Amino acid sequence: MLPQIKTFDEYKERYNLSIEQPRVFWAGIAEHFQWTKKWDTVLDWNFAEPKITWYQGAQLNITENCLDRHIATRENQTAIIWEPNDPKEQSRSITYGQLFISVKIFANVLVANGVKKGDRVCIYLPMIPEAAIAMLACARIGAVHSVIFAGFSAQSISDRVNDSKCKMIITADGFYRGEKKFDLKRIVDDALKSTSSIEKCIVFNHRNFPVNMEAGRDIWWHDEAAKVSVEHIAQAMDAEDPLFILYTSGSTGKPKGVLHTTAGYMVYAAYTFKNVFQYREQDIFCCTADIGWVTGHTYIVYGPLLNGATTIMFEGVPTYPDAGRFWDLIDKHKVNIFYTAPTAIRSLQAYGEEVFTGKDLSSLRVLGSVGEPINEEAWHWYHNNVGKGKCPIVDTWWQTETGGILISPLAGITPLKPAFATLPLPGVELLLVDEKGNEIMGNGVEGNLCIKHPWPGMARSVYGDHERFRTTYFSAYPGLYFTGDGCKRDEDGYYRITGRVDDVINVSGHRIGTGELEDAINMHGEVIESAVVAYPHDLKGQGIYAYVICDKHIDNKEILYKDIRDHVTKVIGAFARPDKIQIVKGLPRTRSGKIMRRILRKIAEGDTSNIGDTSTLVDPAVVEDIKAGAIK
Ligand code: WTA
Repeated sequence: MLPQIKTFDEYKERYNLSIEQPRVFWAGIAEHFQWTKKWDTVLDWNFAEPKITWYQGAQLNITENCLDRHIATRENQTAIIWEPNDPKEQSRSITYGQLFISVKIFANVLVANGVKKGDRVCIYLPMIPEAAIAMLACARIGAVHSVIFAGFSAQSISDRVNDSKCKMIITADGFYRGEKKFDLKRIVDDALKSTSSIEKCIVFNHRNFPVNMEAGRDIWWHDEAAKVSVEHIAQAMDAEDPLFILYTSGSTGKPKGVLHTTAGYMVYAAYTFKNVFQYREQDIFCCTADIGWVTGHTYIVYGPLLNGATTIMFEGVPTYPDAGRFWDLIDKHKVNIFYTAPTAIRSLQAYGEEVFTGKDLSSLRVLGSVGEPINEEAWHWYHNNVGKGKCPIVDTWWQTETGGILISPLAGITPLKPAFATLPLPGVELLLVDEKGNEIMGNGVEGNLCIKHPWPGMARSVYGDHERFRTTYFSAYPGLYFTGDGCKRDEDGYYRITGRVDDVINVSGHRIGTGELEDAINMHGEVIESAVVAYPHDLKGQGIYAYVICDKHIDNKEILYKDIRDHVTKVIGAFARPDKIQIVKGLPRTRSGKIMRRILRKIAEGDTSNIGDTSTLVDPAVVEDIKAGAIK
């Protein structure tokens, strides 16, 4: 069984060991997994190339660690509880034994359909157990999964499929999220019009929606599953063989395919799950993230299954059929650990406390938060109303690129401070730097958050573009990994993340690059140029404010604004729709989005010097709006 820190003193002792002797520390943790062959070298690294290898020489399969090794003791224990969108529908419980068989069958389906070790497979599925089965089946045969959140548009799918040349895509007919219907297969059909690498599309029949099946390309999950054997021996993978790609937005260009590898990710996912949440045998763990984001990968699928835990997959939304849905879910499944996002907490806060009436939340022991800074008010509301003042909140800071949690309290062990992610986990060596890259020493300071030393779960590359990996994360401050986040270290040495310091907007915990959004908006026929900035938003954390330049006089701005929003939905996905749009008159067209953004930010900060005469440069009404705090 993986080691679990039990006291704050032990945390300090383990932390010190992990910094002084990282190889000793991480070799000790890795002993608790099943390896086909043990490693020769625990760690080899430099941040200049960058080159990072953990457990080099080892061979393993992550699914043997998630499934095979549990069968002797957990065959009849529930691995996944599926809670459907509609609470009137039956939930599903899948045991470790059943999950094991399903994964082996689907691994055989992949092989029978031409997928080999190293091939990329795209997964575009709702929150159903088959999403986890598909991921695990890929990992079992050594194929690299690339999961795309089922809220992305056809164009976003084809961009991602083309970037990593996926050979196969796995999808479903469709699903409902709340009252909204998503025709996934239709979206995939659209996406596949502009891809050439996909040979097969496997469709899971989830809701019996009518779909078009293209002969020779599209096949049904159930037909294929009926044809293959239930036996499958996991492929032995090298420690640094790729496990998955997950696309994420950055400050420039198209989304990047963040690449994670096998052994280090496994060790880190399992260790952080067990320690941060202080997981106990028999606990029911519920993370409300979507499988399409890294939180779903690490803390719905891999982390819990590696620990032999019971994990919940929830298909719906917190407000359907009413704002008590999360609390019903906790009551129904007797959830012990509940992990959600500040945006969900804030949106539920608005409904008041009556929704808790009659709901028994006494099973809860630990609460978690992830994705964006949690404001103090939301923290206290969560603590008082959900945790009834008794459950520690682990405010977990991490990123797609980090693979797992880096800064967080250990539940019930680290003394808490509302809205603080508190202290680094073992193996995580943080530092704050100023603009010039000088380390900011001492406490009561603020700077850009960097990391000095590799940890096993960190990304190894950007798929197909290692140079982009280097420039994005390792070039701003040579020798350091730069997170892109600003951070305070208070008098007690506690860390509080203040938010992105690059051109990335965090909307409801979803990362969206301003450059990517501007490109999407600029593709709209009426728009000449645009600049997108974030502004504080009560529910979403940050809202998207788009300033656009149009060529001709627009009679009905509202129609244009709706049209631009619909256009963004088509190009990226609904979650990226701008909250506010305003036509800005007079900004010279030759100015790039980046320069316009700088100008708009300066005005927002009340600094109108050096930007020319604002009355001709920018519509005065917009200047007033900006000055009044519409943007940050
Ligand atoms: C932000 C999500 C404050 C941060 C796991 C980071 C947070 C970005 C927190 C990564 C937190 C995540 N407090 N900010 N507890 N957790 N963030 O890649 O800006 O979707 O850089 O990974 O979310 O988002 P990503």
